[in-house]
Amino acid sequence: MIDESGFVTLRAGETSLVLSCPVGAAPAFVYWGPQLEGTDPAVITMMSARQHAPGGTDQEIEASLLNETGIGINAAVGFSAHRNGADWASVFRVIEVRQPTEHSVEIISEDRATRVRATVQIGLDPDTGLMTCQTEIENRADTDLSIDVCAVASLPLDLRATRLFGYTGRWAGEFRLEEIGPFQGSYVRENKSGRTSHHSFPGLIAGLPGTHEQTGLCYAFHLGWSGNSRTRVDRLSDGRAFLQMGEYFFPGEMSLAPGTTYRTPPLYAGVSNRGYSDLSRKFHHHLSQSVMDGRIRRKPRPVHYNTWEAVYFDHDHDTLFALAEKAAEIGAERFILDDGWFGSRRDDRAGLGDWWPSEEVYPDGLAPLIDHIIGLGMEFGLWFEPEMVNPDSELFRAHPDWVLRAEGLEQISSRHQYVLDLTRPEVSDYLFERLHSLLEGHAISYIKWDMNRDVHHPGSQGRAAASRQAQAVYALIDRLRAAHPQLEIESCSSGGGRADYGILKRTDRIWTSDSNDALDRQSIQRGASHFFPLEVLGTHVGPAKCHITGRRLSMRMRVATALFGHMGMELDLLKEAAADLDVLKAGIALHKQHRALIHSGDFHRLDTPDHVNAIGVVARDQSEALFSWCNLTGHRETLPGRLYVPGLDSGRSYRTRLVWPQPARSISQPSVLEALNLNGDGAILPAEALSQIGLQIPLLHPETCLIYHFEMV
Ligand code: GLA
Repeated sequence: MIDESGFVTLRAGETSLVLSCPVGAAPAFVYWGPQLEGTDPAVITMMSARQHAPGGTDQEIEASLLNETGIGINAAVGFSAHRNGADWASVFRVIEVRQPTEHSVEIISEDRATRVRATVQIGLDPDTGLMTCQTEIENRADTDLSIDVCAVASLPLDLRATRLFGYTGRWAGEFRLEEIGPFQGSYVRENKSGRTSHHSFPGLIAGLPGTHEQTGLCYAFHLGWSGNSRTRVDRLSDGRAFLQMGEYFFPGEMSLAPGTTYRTPPLYAGVSNRGYSDLSRKFHHHLSQSVMDGRIRRKPRPVHYNTWEAVYFDHDHDTLFALAEKAAEIGAERFILDDGWFGSRRDDRAGLGDWWPSEEVYPDGLAPLIDHIIGLGMEFGLWFEPEMVNPDSELFRAHPDWVLRAEGLEQISSRHQYVLDLTRPEVSDYLFERLHSLLEGHAISYIKWDMNRDVHHPGSQGRAAASRQAQAVYALIDRLRAAHPQLEIESCSSGGGRADYGILKRTDRIWTSDSNDALDRQSIQRGASHFFPLEVLGTHVGPAKCHITGRRLSMRMRVATALFGHMGMELDLLKEAAADLDVLKAGIALHKQHRALIHSGDFHRLDTPDHVNAIGVVARDQSEALFSWCNLTGHRETLPGRLYVPGLDSGRSYRTRLVWPQPARSISQPSVLEALNLNGDGAILPAEALSQIGLQIPLLHPETCLIYHFEMV
């Protein structure tokens, strides 16, 4: 609603947003937070007014939507641009406000002196209240405009939200949440890796000291972008705090010719009064209903078998045929042939770019293997890393100039590969033609789209081109998807290096991490779950001895960890012990039995001591739930604690059963289960007791995971 004083109020999903945008004034956030029912915007403005800050300007400088340079605020600038040094201080004044729908608004503002126009689009998801914000900058003069900084917006932070959590991480250790202690000044994370990154996932969470998983006020932010980014929180000496997220630009990278525009990636921002898990559910719901396309929403996600950790580059006809048979027997529904099938790719030093089946390993092409896999009742998927080239490849020998580079600088190689310049149409055309012809000629239902290095010198034709390269990757995927509408795509980047809402707009799942170590995965998946629902998280059962960490974990633990995600396996089934394969087969059957719930239910993380990770899903109609309790290490007290089950219908009772492990033999003292018959037919227990009294967890060895099922009676 726009009122006569120029206030815009949007309400949805227990969230209210109030903006001040009278024509001729600077547009500003007045309020964004838990829903206000009847407070007049004028009252909010009045109540938000601050007294004169000693030593400050005579009149306090109000923040604007973008905190652009010209408003003079001594805070992080959200928009900064110039024309060769001139026109460096834009100030945007509203020229028009449009309201395309009840839940969205477009604020068009302009600086008539510097001739720059900024259009900020903001919408609230009608169900969840999740805010999406995107900004477009237009150069309206007849000279080029260089944009140094363009955050999506400069969001005022609730001053009570003093607990901030940012993301760190590394290869095989993604999505680590790190609490940022109190500070005055700036918290900045810059990602220049040319992908979403392992180390600076563009997400941030803010809560009150008393906010927990199941209670309390909290906020979360995510930039839906697969390229370079900057996240910053600034706490000013005058007490105000702002959050900005946007692309990171290299010098001169974002130059707008007269009449052209730049559009930021979307910023997703959520608020909840009911704790971090509720906030995650809003993000999950919004991602699956409004960001991803609904193409495969109704299709059960097939259990994967992936060849990587089983054979690596050692592709051999008989082994692959035997693995396919074994995989089908254990319960796989899709077989993915990973790296090593093409060109001269017998190790990671050669072949990238040569996207045709290796004549040495596949003399009759891929068809015999694909036919065998389809004959076994599975779908077939294939690995690609389209953006890359090995210097030792036919492609590079023919087109050494097709790579991104900075003039005069030596190429930095990583995993013996360079990055192709997809901003050149001939390069994207080549890649499209290669992938398209393989997809056209074979029954390939799925591709794993990998991207295995940081981009250090993202230059094209003498200029930095990281942003354009990321757009070109999107365009190539979009083009392929348009030509093959049923094709499913996984976004992989040495594990979870390209996981974000921008890539998930055009792909179907992410490869969460290269670490298949179930203990690592417990925390990686928990970290990722703040923004990603279980159905998009690729989770595989790896070998008994994890290849990356060297840790040995039981098959029961590995299965239980992979079960809460888009499940798969990635191990040499021809070498695993027969008893372990039986456990794996049972685990896959259990996943299939509950996958509709796992992939569509409401997700919960529980607050537990550090040695435990407890998560679960509750059906949207509350008819059933599945919770996992993982004892990561030893417990401090003699007994390991209680599972307080959230989300059930408090007026009803639930048949409560331990469904994993079966039989419950790895539990060192299952007596507490026996007392309630939890590992037999189960006990019928009131939901209120399950949530308030909780289930006593039996004594467990470290690295043990239990799964409970609750069914409404
Ligand atoms: C990356 C991926 C792995 C695997 C290899 C193949 O590291 O994350 O899953 O596909 O590449 O080279």
